[in-house]
Amino acid sequence: MTLGPHRAAAAALALALAAAPQAPAQSRQLDRSLALTPPMGFNTWNKFGCNVSDALIRGIADAMVASGMRDAGYQYVVIDDCWQVSRDSATGRIVPDAQRFPNGMRALADYVHSRGLRFGIYTDAGRRTCEGRPGSYRSYETDTRSYAEWGVDYVKVDWCYSDSLVSRTQYTEFRDALLVAGRPIVFSICEWGSTRPWEWASGVGHLWRTTGDIGDRWYSFLRILDASSTHARAAGPGGWNDPDMLEVGNGGMTAEEYRSHFSLWAIMAAPLIAGNDIRTMPDSIREILVNREVIAVDQDSLGVQGWLVAQPRPDLQVWVKPLRDGSRAVALFNRTEAPAEIAVEWSAIGLAPSQASVRDLWAHADRGRFRDRYAATVPSHGVVMVRIAGQPAR
Ligand code: GLA
Repeated sequence: MTLGPHRAAAAALALALAAAPQAPAQSRQLDRSLALTPPMGFNTWNKFGCNVSDALIRGIADAMVASGMRDAGYQYVVIDDCWQVSRDSATGRIVPDAQRFPNGMRALADYVHSRGLRFGIYTDAGRRTCEGRPGSYRSYETDTRSYAEWGVDYVKVDWCYSDSLVSRTQYTEFRDALLVAGRPIVFSICEWGSTRPWEWASGVGHLWRTTGDIGDRWYSFLRILDASSTHARAAGPGGWNDPDMLEVGNGGMTAEEYRSHFSLWAIMAAPLIAGNDIRTMPDSIREILVNREVIAVDQDSLGVQGWLVAQPRPDLQVWVKPLRDGSRAVALFNRTEAPAEIAVEWSAIGLAPSQASVRDLWAHADRGRFRDRYAATVPSHGVVMVRIAGQPAR
């Protein structure tokens, strides 16, 4: 039997398709499975600025293990700005600072991996980084190939020196460069919320900054909390709002305020990226960062970003985050200058008016069973954070 011209063409096409490499449309999907829960790790910027080195990163990796942070869920050790000095004029490849990183990036990544951790790096989608180092513009594929060769698992991509560039276009191009680099790499978008990433970045990156830089101050934390919390609907498994890295332990806030910062970041399903010197932190700070009950709220597999649900009086707030097992994480948050009682009503968090059990996630204690509401005295600038398990309202 002979095939007619149409059948022959169709058969040839089918054969060609079967032999072709993966269709581009398929290969351009972000692998959301790399961040089904918000990424956790450490980044150099908040504490060390440009003072980064091989020795620092090795010391941090060791401290991640010794402090129990790795076992509590922190994975990525990320070098922020200033590791790069130039671009090789012959190959176009980015050149790390040989004085500060004398063993090269591959050896450093190997060391971090040997500690059971993952390795992250920083660049800029524009022409230069914010500290004026070479950016990746026009070199996305060259750079992502270098990262893959070095064993990089996470890249934060900044937005300085990007005049006349369109963020969505550039970050999409960067994502596509990552997809052909040959290694799974978490993609952290950092355009500071300047072009409404909550409207387009899901599917482009795994996390996207929602605001300008955090400062180690109470009012900076509040400003970012209020701004980032308005975009809760954009977050979910595989793509997260990023209200910036943690300042816990950097000295500009009280322990009470740091507990609030950490608790509200967990309620917001924020990436938990420590930014303090974890090699030398006191136990009081370590205990905040490794609080497994609060981390479990952040990392809950339902992947819902919590929100402000009630404000019984100005600056006395109730925040809620629904969890996979049907329970609710609740933060009673006192932004005022004096201790105050704050109550959460079951009706406000979608629970039926019946007995529900309450566990305090900072005291690590069961508080008992309560009907309709739970009230606690909350210190100034502090939180009481609880997990409430009850019957859902119909
Ligand atoms: C920007 C980013 C910061 C940090 C610095 C580095 O300000 O928002 O998080 O990466 O650049 O220069």
